[in-house]
Amino acid sequence: RKEEKALIVIFGGTGDLAQRKLYPSLFNLYKRGFLKDNFAVIGTARRPWSDDYYREIIINAVGDAEDINGQATDFASHFYYQSHNVNDTEHYATLKQLADKLDDKYQIGGNRVFYLAMSPSFFGTIAAHLKSQNLKTTTGYNRVIVEKPFGHDYESAMVLNEEIAQAFPEEEVYRIDHYLGKEMVQNIPAIRFGNNIFNALWNNRYISNIQVTLSESLGVEERGGYYDTAGALRDMIQNHTLQIVSLLTMSAPVSFTDTDIRNAKINALKSLRVYKPEEVAQNFVRGQYGPGSDKPGYRQEDMVDADSMTETFVAGKLEVNTMDMAGVPIYVRTGKRMREKATRVDVVFKQVPNNVFGEGDNTLRHDVLHIMIDPEPKLSLQLNSKTIGHSYEYDTNSLNLNYSVPAEQRANIPEAYEKLILDVLQGKASNFASSKELEYSWKFIDSVRQAWDKNIDDMIFPNYSCGSMGPKAADALLEKDGNHWEF
Ligand code: BG6
Repeated sequence: RKEEKALIVIFGGTGDLAQRKLYPSLFNLYKRGFLKDNFAVIGTARRPWSDDYYREIIINAVGDAEDINGQATDFASHFYYQSHNVNDTEHYATLKQLADKLDDKYQIGGNRVFYLAMSPSFFGTIAAHLKSQNLKTTTGYNRVIVEKPFGHDYESAMVLNEEIAQAFPEEEVYRIDHYLGKEMVQNIPAIRFGNNIFNALWNNRYISNIQVTLSESLGVEERGGYYDTAGALRDMIQNHTLQIVSLLTMSAPVSFTDTDIRNAKINALKSLRVYKPEEVAQNFVRGQYGPGSDKPGYRQEDMVDADSMTETFVAGKLEVNTMDMAGVPIYVRTGKRMREKATRVDVVFKQVPNNVFGEGDNTLRHDVLHIMIDPEPKLSLQLNSKTIGHSYEYDTNSLNLNYSVPAEQRANIPEAYEKLILDVLQGKASNFASSKELEYSWKFIDSVRQAWDKNIDDMIFPNYSCGSMGPKAADALLEKDGNHWEF
């Protein structure tokens, strides 16, 4: 296993994301040997912490407080803390000194990763200072990881892009979408382009419709303040859902390289039909959860406006107008406080053109490919086949591919963040959204958002109850096309 040499500077090093995701992921990379001797991490934030205190936080965050073999302590010894005000130019000079010193000490060779795990309103100033204060090196690579939300609409996303681009050219920018680090999301191209049975059938001649569901049972938890200004459309559709849609609908990339994959995805997103304002209501449904027997409604959540009109549920019908996919409805759906946590794709194939078995009770069903992403990775193909016995009846059965692993091996499955951070260290960009992808996805999202904002007075919220699959209108959206949700 090749050790990656890098100095990682985390802006927002005391934050929730760093502690919940980044430190455990870095520790896993350490345990697997991807990080070893030649790496160091500088955590920065406003509050004054000592290195010792920071290292205690790291050891706790990696869930190894007992640290029997001293591995967590060794790992944490590579961590340094620097109190930092992102607007203060002098602070960058101090940061540079520390960075150069650590680069020397750990013989890193100038490779730097800057992780912006802070509010996007600071991205511009941080990027500008990193450049002007010479924190970018000339001896190794410089890469910047940007957390979501990447913009609030098309315009703000483009401003962010420009601000970052002043200091980092596109090939140095890694925009995190953690869904792209999920095993089964990464599996979509393998399934589509690695098997001729799917390669051959993946088009409007054989696919009836595609359904993408990202349902959550949790509510907004402690994130009401952010969520109430965002809503489900921005929080889950613009990024995760459209990224999955692009993987499902893109044409085969020329080769499996960053540039070719990105180009294929860009073309898919560019082909999204952008709705006219009057078309939005026929193609999109929004919802907000009301109280359940033991759960508060959205409007009762902390930091949420008591008469908030923010949506916590979205269902929509998309069209990707390429030669292969035009005419295939792509139904998407996401929401908080739904029946269960499930991230999945259902690809519904058309029925055989002529049913030689005749009609009757014994009807043929659609073949459906289920790609289960969360909570358990699983692939399942629903088929018609004859039942065993004298009569000629058929039934729907499934071919199942379980990726479930015994509990003791679970720790070996890399987490999304771990895979994505390793991608950055190795300079692999295909699992990150490019600026063009952002551009097209935001254009699409804005068209829905603007139409919704205009008609906000027509909405009656809440309109679905905790633990349901969303408002009835989400079912009607498919029924009017003669379809239904597979899940
Ligand atoms: C985040 C959203 O991007 O994804 C959250 O901001 C959401 O609102 C989360 O809960 C879901 O991620 P996962 O991996 O648990 O499906």
